[in-house]
Amino acid sequence: MPELLPIILVIGGTGAQGLPVVKALSESQRYAVRVLTRNAQSARAQELAGLPNVSLIEGSQDQQNDLHAAFTGVYGAWVNLDGFTLGEKNELFYGIRAYEIARHHGVKHYIFANTDYALRKGDWNEQYHWGHNDAKGRIGDLILSHGQEGMKTTLLTTGPYMDMLFDGMYVPKEQSDGSFLWENPAANGKIPLIALDDVGAYSLWIFNNPSDSAGLDLEVATDQISFPEIAAVFTRVTSKKGTHKRVSLEEYLPKAEPYPNAWANWSAGSDVKRDESSMTWRQNFSAWWRYWSEGKGATRDMALLDRIHPNRIKSLEEWMRLKNYDGKPRPIMKNLEDLRAR
Ligand SMILES: NC(=O)c1ccc[n+]([C@@H]2O[C@H](COP(=O)([O-])OP(=O)(O)OC[C@H]3O[C@@H](n4cnc5c(N)ncnc54)[C@H](OP(=O)(O)O)[C@@H]3O)[C@@H](O)[C@H]2O)c1
Repeated sequence: MPELLPIILVIGGTGAQGLPVVKALSESQRYAVRVLTRNAQSARAQELAGLPNVSLIEGSQDQQNDLHAAFTGVYGAWVNLDGFTLGEKNELFYGIRAYEIARHHGVKHYIFANTDYALRKGDWNEQYHWGHNDAKGRIGDLILSHGQEGMKTTLLTTGPYMDMLFDGMYVPKEQSDGSFLWENPAANGKIPLIALDDVGAYSLWIFNNPSDSAGLDLEVATDQISFPEIAAVFTRVTSKKGTHKRVSLEEYLPKAEPYPNAWANWSAGSDVKRDESSMTWRQNFSAWWRYWSEGKGATRDMALLDRIHPNRIKSLEEWMRLKNYDGKPRPIMKNLEDLRAR
């Protein structure tokens, strides 16, 4: 690795959101990238290690010694904590600790991979509180509150991934007549979907333009679009019929949860500590569906995004054509991929 390139630590680099970031930083040839991973031998870690100027460091987001080792000697950091593994309380603690440890090590520019602070944006109505967003939102507010002296900070705030149409919450079900059905509790509000392909370009812009990006909460999206519109775009692009059927949360949740009364961080397994603060999957995703599908997150400044990234993917339609989207599932999320492989 060339000695002179400034090093960017990427936490969560093997994940769905982190992969395009590592790739964009590597391709830029302006930065060396250090990826924190629990397993340097995983297929995703090995793929990244094969890219120019990318190295791996083994460790865990929830081990302070590992964070110290990871942040030592880096110029910048891009930090996506995995709330689905850590749970809300640990994400909050380690999110604050990661920031503090970065400051201790003299990091110059810190990007926090944020999500909407839904409880705050939802006017403190507990109907909009769920763990994996609010933990990040609180940390994001705290980080910006410390100002820009000494270390520049930028929030990169994403909403639901457009790529979840392949994997996770937004995969439609193919019907016997060849049509595709999204049966879920989505209301008709606009959801700020982000195409993961563009997360790398936004991250690179932030690091390349610190005087413009310092102190910014950059809320990104590719398209702000409702579920009935998603189904209509699908029909137009694929010539297959796409339908959205709204069902109540009461009907949806028992059918959708991973197992009866699952925890929100169910994928972390049964050994992790849980307590009164731990949310169930039903609690977590009830608020998630409400907030996004009522349009509360449709606050993105699309004109700003056009200026920052003129070649961005402009719409769900463009993304579906680019991806040859056909409604069939493809692996995107690492946690889900790891679970399927077990
Ligand atoms: N799904 C969405 O639409 C969406 C939208 C916005 C934000 N988010 C947020 O994104 C986060 C998940 O990231 P993702 O979507 O990229 O998920 P993912 O594809 O499942 O990847 C999970 C990532 O977290 C890393 N990780 C998990 N536990 C770790 C630990 N203890 N120490 C070090 N690394 C750890 C994994 O690294 P290794 O396995 O290599 O260690 C991997 O890079 C969640 O907090 C979620 O709130 C998701």
